[in-house]
Amino acid sequence: MASPTSGGEREKLVSKLPASLRQALKVRSAQLNTDVQNAVTAGIRAWRDHQEPLPHVDTAGAESFGTWLPEGLYDDFKTDCAARGVSYIQGLAQAVALWIEQNPASDQPAPTRRLIVCNQKGGVGKTAVTAGLAQALAEDPQQSTSTQAVAQAAARLGLRVLMVDYDPQGHLSHQLGLKAVPAGEESLITHMLNREQARTSLIDLTVGIEDERFGDRLRILPAAFDAFLLDSGLTMFRGPRHAALERALAPLEEHFDVIVVDSPPSLGLAMDAAIYYGRLRDGEKPGSSGLIIPVEAEDTSAQAYGMLINQVGSLATDYEIEVEQLGLVVNKFDSRRGYIATSSLDKWKSLGAPPVLAVIGDLKEQREAVRLQRALLAYSPESDQAHHMREIARRLA
Ligand SMILES: Nc1ncnc2c1ncn2[C@@H]1O[C@H](COP(=O)(O)OP(=O)(O)O)[C@@H](O)[C@H]1O
Ligand SMILES: [Mg+2]
Repeated sequence: MASPTSGGEREKLVSKLPASLRQALKVRSAQLNTDVQNAVTAGIRAWRDHQEPLPHVDTAGAESFGTWLPEGLYDDFKTDCAARGVSYIQGLAQAVALWIEQNPASDQPAPTRRLIVCNQKGGVGKTAVTAGLAQALAEDPQQSTSTQAVAQAAARLGLRVLMVDYDPQGHLSHQLGLKAVPAGEESLITHMLNREQARTSLIDLTVGIEDERFGDRLRILPAAFDAFLLDSGLTMFRGPRHAALERALAPLEEHFDVIVVDSPPSLGLAMDAAIYYGRLRDGEKPGSSGLIIPVEAEDTSAQAYGMLINQVGSLATDYEIEVEQLGLVVNKFDSRRGYIATSSLDKWKSLGAPPVLAVIGDLKEQREAVRLQRALLAYSPESDQAHHMREIARRLA
């Protein structure tokens, strides 16, 4: 039987392949923009050329698998399998595994991760966590202390990170020494609500945070005074309002590995757009994007969390999306507050999912950095607060 496709006669290979290998083959072929039949052909040729013995592949439970090979290759392959004393199924599994190994997808840029730091309760540490986490993700891994676990995770840090100050109060911008964009001037809000009026590309509205430990990797999109009008603006918006933030930020994504959004203390339409932006996209690896929720160890924080989760639940139902809660950060924890604090902490931990990413005390360096308008990891790189931020970054990396 001959295949009509892709130049030259082909004949059908019918064999078996473990489901995991078949899936990996499919995904990698798609990433590299090639056909499965070309990938298997290349794998079999590489296998035939390979002089050293290849590792045994577990083929238990392999399922039937068919593809097309150039005429004659299957026969040659079977002859080689017999000569090497392996079954055809084992030979094929080795060939596919070899192709996957020899054709890494590393030249494919990983999609930009979106981390939405949110809680409609004010003062819980959204802004502090946004800033610290973004700095830790962007920090030159060499600059952080190096145990083995740190060193491993460090390979995945030193990222290009954008902080989005999505709170009209502009605390994040202010504590990094910037002013909010005045009313009426072009900002993120223009790009969300009135794209036709935008004159500047959004990347040119971002500002770099300068410090050698961040290189040129850390930037912020400052707050806009107009963001106070965002909820009412979205009510009138003629378009997919839930996707307004996504559409505005989409052109920025190619410039960053991670975008961290500092949310306002509210649960309106603006927040819906942020939660939607943090959803798990099609094909995205679970755990890559989602919500990070700073909380305190007291009862009103638990109530606020319940409301947030309801909101996320209805949004997920309405738009048929999945929004992952990546973790909680229990902030300003002070065990001297006694039973309320310790039992609340236990409750947060007992949730299990989302996990508690860190428990952070009430620490002076955080407040000092804010007062001095310095990035925390530059102001006090060895403080407990800075190490907690690195711990959160590593757990998310
Ligand atoms: N772990 C902490 N220790 C001490 N002060 C903190 C800590 N986390 C936040 N703060 C301070 O508490 C205040 C509120 O925190 P912030 O991050 O602005 O909360 P939110 O953004 O949720 O309103 C700020 O002055 C901040 O510097
Ligand atoms: Mg804030």
